[in-house]
Amino acid sequence: MMKARMNEALNRQINEEAFSSYLYLSMSAWFESQNLKGFANWMKVQAQEEAVHAKIFFNHIVERGGRVKLEAIAAPKTEWASPLEAFKDTLEHEKHITACIHGLMDLAVEEKDHAAAIALQWFVSEQVEEEANAEELLAKLEMIGDSKNGLFMLDKELAARVFRMPAGVTV
Ligand code: FEO
Repeated sequence: MMKARMNEALNRQINEEAFSSYLYLSMSAWFESQNLKGFANWMKVQAQEEAVHAKIFFNHIVERGGRVKLEAIAAPKTEWASPLEAFKDTLEHEKHITACIHGLMDLAVEEKDHAAAIALQWFVSEQVEEEANAEELLAKLEMIGDSKNGLFMLDKELAARVFRMPAGVTV
């Protein structure tokens, strides 16, 4: 059985992950409006991954006999000045999510909730990857600068991203 404090904190994280999904779907819509279909695809896959993250927390609460309570999802931003700005926002957002995950891990240790700590371990590693991906694409966009050709090439590269369910995860 999960303690109330951890249950509440994990419910808040479901909301953070749901908002992440909504934010990246909003970015996908903006990239579509800019006719950058590869970027739009990358963001759509990102949104799918975030929805899975929310479900992993959902399942963990249910399996532990806790109670899932869903809250309203805030409206995300809908316009960006450039692809560069969208990826700056992405990196900032992922840093925020990393801080949330680390806070949950601290709470799991404090509460001696070993099961939550093990579940959170996956998210600690995932956040390293999430930040690295955002940083890499941000660096590429900075390198490209105003080059339309460079943007076209990167758009083509990002069109290849496909959603894959993480190993060992069923939602
Ligand atoms: Fe669910 Fe992008 O972290």
